[in-house]
Amino acid sequence: MKKYIPAIRKNRYCFILAPILMILEAAGEFILPYLNANIIDKGAATGDIAYIVQNGLLMAATAIFMLVCGVGGAYFAIKGASLLAADVRGNTFQKIQKLSFAEIDGFSTGSLITRITNDITQIQNFTQSLLRGCCRSPVMLIGALCMSFVLNPGLAAVICTVMVLLVLLIYLLIRTASPRYTVMQEKLDGLNNRINETIINERVIKSFVREEYEKERFLPINEVLMEKSVRALKIMILMQPVSTLAINVTTLAVVWIAGRQIMVGDMTVGALTAFITYLTQILTALNFLANIFLQGTRAAASNRRISEVLNARISVSDESAREKEKKVTMGSVTFEHVSFAYDAAREDMVLKDINLQFLPGQFISIVGSTGSGKSTLISLIPRLYDALSGTVRVDGTDVRDYSLRSLRDGIAVVLQKNMLFSGTIEENLRWGNEQASREELEKACRIAHAEEFINSFPEKYETHLEQGGQNLSGGQRQRLCIARALVKQPKILILDDSTSAVDMATDAGIRRALREELGDITKIIIAQRISSVMDADQIVVMNDGRVEDMGTHRELMARCRTYQEIYYSQKEKEEDAQ
Ligand SMILES: Nc1ncnc2c1ncn2[C@@H]1O[C@H](COP(=O)(O)OP(=O)(O)OP(=O)(O)O)[C@@H](O)[C@H]1O
Ligand SMILES: [Mg+2]
Repeated sequence: MKKYIPAIRKNRYCFILAPILMILEAAGEFILPYLNANIIDKGAATGDIAYIVQNGLLMAATAIFMLVCGVGGAYFAIKGASLLAADVRGNTFQKIQKLSFAEIDGFSTGSLITRITNDITQIQNFTQSLLRGCCRSPVMLIGALCMSFVLNPGLAAVICTVMVLLVLLIYLLIRTASPRYTVMQEKLDGLNNRINETIINERVIKSFVREEYEKERFLPINEVLMEKSVRALKIMILMQPVSTLAINVTTLAVVWIAGRQIMVGDMTVGALTAFITYLTQILTALNFLANIFLQGTRAAASNRRISEVLNARISVSDESAREKEKKVTMGSVTFEHVSFAYDAAREDMVLKDINLQFLPGQFISIVGSTGSGKSTLISLIPRLYDALSGTVRVDGTDVRDYSLRSLRDGIAVVLQKNMLFSGTIEENLRWGNEQASREELEKACRIAHAEEFINSFPEKYETHLEQGGQNLSGGQRQRLCIARALVKQPKILILDDSTSAVDMATDAGIRRALREELGDITKIIIAQRISSVMDADQIVVMNDGRVEDMGTHRELMARCRTYQEIYYSQKEKEEDAQ
């Protein structure tokens, strides 16, 4: 509950005014039937017009007062609930930004989206109902009950009996519905995951003509959600008719008993009218309270899911960093007995006892078969993940001792699955460094061989990119991502298979430019093509999570079998292609 307190405190006027106005409105509800009874019993019975007019005006004034309070109360309830939801949504979003890759892998994108949208909406709806009804309904219930006891204690006892039965029934309904709502929410998660994955990969699906297959996969998930929703909601459908039945049956009983009393002169017609109104109020209030309870159970499930995100322990943090002020200045990287697994509980390590040293300014290449752990290896340098054992050092300092900001400021990574954002090319480039001058942007684009195609667009650097940079070619996207990384002016530049969609000549051109213009930056480049790595200062050969060898092209050709195999298999392919 702690997460809601700051928002409640900040907007306390909504959280105070809404219930007060609603209570005032409820007060009017008791006065109206009372005045009405007076008109019937005292005014109409004796023909006292002045009395009728006086009470009529009082009723009109009460009705207007109730209208003002009702509208005001509803307004502040909506406002308070919306502000609370906005606050929690903001905090959840911020927390998601802080989550490290490991936690994001754990939650799944679809589930995070459901939590930040649907789950927070449940909390908002509940808060709104709570503000409107938490005081009003009990006040109405108790008030109307007291008034009915004042009017006729015998009849009031009948109402009490019905009330107890109704409360029991509502309790049973809620107890059955509550777990069903939790299941419904989980199924919604599954659906969102599916939708998320499908929409992101729409182009792949189309190119593989898999629309039908995806439809088939979607249908059962959609159907299950529908079934679970019906299962949960059908219980609640019962609530309204059950309450109405209770009102009708009780009214009938009251009229029957009261009719006899009226005949013998123990009760007036006016009192009966008032009594029936109180009866309706009691049962309506009860119904409203039951609805709040029900929304509460749904909100509790949503609250748990939001808390899971907000309380998630961030595995990569710099809270205990010992050299927070330190910046990356040289660009050396050392791996000392580093082992890593994505799932710490599993035995098989993705990286096994890695020992490496890269010196400042070196041009390092990493090769190895797919799945050998290359991307995993480089992801430990900027702490996208933390090593399970061993130490990764940058400039001789454990990466865990830097503040995340200084560490990542000093390192630019172009990930294998890189992404651009919607906005202009310039805005995308400035992601690396807001303050970069135009010359710096142009220099980065020149090195990344992106200048030519950018200048071929009519709007050049102002060209608008669609979401994910979809309106660029694969190679253009990759070159822009390299330029974006260079704008950061890092000390260590890591490119993970970042020129795979670029032709060989441009690839060679980019490498030459990196070497010539960025002499003092450590360049770590993962590549599939041997031709791309041959001129590196050091080539690291990865095999099944281990460093099999490290050396220059010539050294490795002389002694490393895996390297020779990769070299010859690629040569054969090239010859076949010719
Ligand atoms: N986020 C992840 N969660 C769990 N396992 C992962 C994750 N990413 C990679 N792996 C596993 O770790 C191993 C190494 O993957 P990695 O991506 O480092 O290989 P790679 O050498 O970069 O391969 P490629 O050349 O295909 O890019 C693989 O077995 C892969 O299945
Ligand atoms: Mg990889």
